[in-house]
Amino acid sequence: MSIPIPEKRIAEFENFGFGLFIHYGLYSQLGRGEWVLYIDKIPLSEYENLTQTFTASKFDARKIVSMAKAAGIKYITLTTRHHEGFSLYDTRGLNTYDAPHTPCGRDLIREFVDACHEYDIVPFFYHTTLDWRDYNYKHDFKAYLQYLRDSVEILCTQYGKIGGFWFDGNWAKKNKDWEEDALYAVIRKHQPDAIIINNTGTSARGEAGNPELDSVTFEQGRPTPMDREGMSKYYAAEMCHTMNAHWGFGHADFHYKSLAELIETFCACRKVGANYLLNVGPTGEGEIPLMQEALLRGIGEWISKTGDAIYEGKPCNIFGTGKNFALKRGNKLYFYVHNLSISGDSNVTIEEGGAGEKTFTGVKAKIKSIHWTDCGETLSFVQDGEILKINCTGYPYGTDLVVRVAEAETEE
Ligand code: GLC
Repeated sequence: MSIPIPEKRIAEFENFGFGLFIHYGLYSQLGRGEWVLYIDKIPLSEYENLTQTFTASKFDARKIVSMAKAAGIKYITLTTRHHEGFSLYDTRGLNTYDAPHTPCGRDLIREFVDACHEYDIVPFFYHTTLDWRDYNYKHDFKAYLQYLRDSVEILCTQYGKIGGFWFDGNWAKKNKDWEEDALYAVIRKHQPDAIIINNTGTSARGEAGNPELDSVTFEQGRPTPMDREGMSKYYAAEMCHTMNAHWGFGHADFHYKSLAELIETFCACRKVGANYLLNVGPTGEGEIPLMQEALLRGIGEWISKTGDAIYEGKPCNIFGTGKNFALKRGNKLYFYVHNLSISGDSNVTIEEGGAGEKTFTGVKAKIKSIHWTDCGETLSFVQDGEILKINCTGYPYGTDLVVRVAEAETEE
C-alpha cells in the first residue's frame, strides 16, 4: 500500500493554507445566525420579507477582499446560496429569490469575484445542497436536484475561473440519492481545475466521500493527521471554524475566541497539513464586524513576523513536545514553538512554559544553523542522531507571538 500523489490542483490547494469563510445572506439582517429561519420556525411568508430590506449597502467586496489579503489569506469561500434558499448571484431566471431582485439590485458574486481577481485571491463558492424554501426540495427531489445543477452551472459559466465549490447539506438527507456524480460532472465540464468539497458536517469529520471530491472537512473540530495509506486518491484536508459561536452574524454573540487561540488553531491545522478556513459573518448591511476585522488583522501581523513557511511547509514526521511541531520546506525545517516565556523581570513578565531547551525527535537531516524568524537571533542547539535540542531563548520583553518559529538550515 502506498500514499497516492496529489493531483496538481489539490497540491496547490494545500499550499493556500489559509482561507476566509464568509456567511452572508438574508439571515444576516436578523443577526441571530444563519439557521434562524429553521430554528425559530419563522413562517416562510414572513421570512421572505427580508428581501425587501436587503440592501447590502455596506457590502464592499474590495474592502473585504483587501482586508483578507492583508491578513495573509489566499482564498475566500463565500456563501453564494445558504440553506434559506436565497442567492447572492443572479439566478438568471431560475427564480427571483436573489440579490438582483431586492433593493440591493446587484450581483454580489460578480462583485466578489472581480475583487478577488483584483487582489489575487482565489474565489471559492459555498453552495447549499439542502433548501428550506424550495417546494421541490420536499416534494420532487429529482426536479430539485436539476435546479441545483442548473444553479451551479450558472456559477461555473458566468464568473470566470473559480478556485472551487464548497457544498453543504447532504448530511440533511443521508440516505437520499443526491446524484452527486451528475453535480460534480457539471463542474468538471466547465471548471476542470476547481476544487470540489462537500462538507461532511460535525458528525463525520475527516470522512472521505465521492472520489470526485478533493478535500475532506473538519467542521468546528480539530484536524487529525490524514492516513492516506491505500486511499484511492489524495484528498486534501480543511478545517473551518467560527470566530465566535455562529457562522452568520449574531449581534448578541460575544463568545469570541482570542487571537492567541486562532493562531494556535491555525498552527494545529498546518501541523497536519490541513487548511484553516476561518469564518466571518458580515452584518445585515454587509459589513464585517470590527472585532472580526481586528482578529484577522492580528493573524496577518503574526504571519508577517513568523514567516510564510506556514503555507508551503509540510508535515515531516518530526515530533516536538506538547504542541510543538516542525514543517519542512525545501532544505529548511521550521520549528513551531509554543508557550515560550518572556525574558526580563519576573515582577512584570508572566512565566508561561518557560524558555530553554526544546526537544524534537525524528530530525533526520543534519542541522547547520537555526534562528528565530521574527528577530533573526541565532539559536544554539545539540543534535544527537535524530534528536535535536534547541536552546529556545524567551521572547524579548515587549513581545509574545504565542507561537514562535525557528528556521533551520539543513545539509540536505
Ligand atoms: C453547517 C451549517 C451551516 C454552515 C456550515 C459551515 O453544516 O449547516 O450553517 O454554513 O456548517 O461549515
